[in-house]
Amino acid sequence: MKTVLITGANRGLGLGMIKYLTKFNNTEKIIATCRKTSEELSLLAQESNKLQIISLDVTDWNSLKDVTSQIGNAVGASGLNLLINNAGVTTKFTKLSLVKVEQLLDNLTVNTVAPIMLTQSLVPLLKQASEANNSAPMGSDRAVVINMSSILGSITQNDQGGFYPYRCSKAALNAATKSMSIDLKKEHILVAAMHPGWVRTDMGGKNAPLDVDSSVAGMFATIQKLGEADSGKFFQYDGSELPW
Ligand SMILES: NC(=O)c1ccc[n+]([C@@H]2O[C@H](COP(=O)([O-])OP(=O)(O)OC[C@H]3O[C@@H](n4cnc5c(N)ncnc54)[C@H](OP(=O)(O)O)[C@@H]3O)[C@@H](O)[C@H]2O)c1
Repeated sequence: MKTVLITGANRGLGLGMIKYLTKFNNTEKIIATCRKTSEELSLLAQESNKLQIISLDVTDWNSLKDVTSQIGNAVGASGLNLLINNAGVTTKFTKLSLVKVEQLLDNLTVNTVAPIMLTQSLVPLLKQASEANNSAPMGSDRAVVINMSSILGSITQNDQGGFYPYRCSKAALNAATKSMSIDLKKEHILVAAMHPGWVRTDMGGKNAPLDVDSSVAGMFATIQKLGEADSGKFFQYDGSELPW
């Protein structure tokens, strides 16, 4: 994969993925989008001429046209090989008796609506990358969309209840992932959902068992192995498949 875009790249897993890619030789252009850059991300951009930061609040629908044209200019004729819809939010544990409308709508907007609308906007660039590499099999040498989901979005694995805003938003993102995989199949664009593991970030908290670097290395190893038969599936960072 020559060109990659990651949303929510100023901290947490997004930043970890950018760090990993700046060291990954095959990548020619890395686009980090964020609402507000962080010191760490700015430093990485100073050190790597492959990295470009583009400002994006994923819920600012009105900016999508302009941002898409900035991304188009950044990737040029290569198009976009890999889009990782990573930006996400979570409301802490919410029991049925406590959950609020604003929490449900906020999680749904950022975690579900935004990845769908950004992907919609970037399809022409993904298609361009897929066509430019039409002798390669479906996968990261052509065009891939990864929707950062969570095991908490798995209906099969829900044995604890609660977490209404987050669970519903990620389950809906999983549904969108499946539809995208079907709708983009004819363009040879692979789409999959990814659970990064429970990772020590602001969202995962300090008790999480996995560090960012291990999760990120596992996710990229998994992404690079994905092929046609994997489109429309839900994977964990270590490559194992998860139930919807
Ligand atoms: N950590 C885990 O254990 C875990 C487990 C399962 C799934 N995940 C998923 O992995 C992804 C990354 O999580 P993380 O642990 O890195 O979380 P994090 O440390 O809380 O970082 C969240 C990122 O999303 C960005 N973001 C939130 N709302 C945004 C918006 N409207 N526009 C643009 N960016 C926005 C944040 O930017 P700001 O700095 O501007 O807020 C930040 O960069 C999420 O989708 C999450 O659901 C994480």
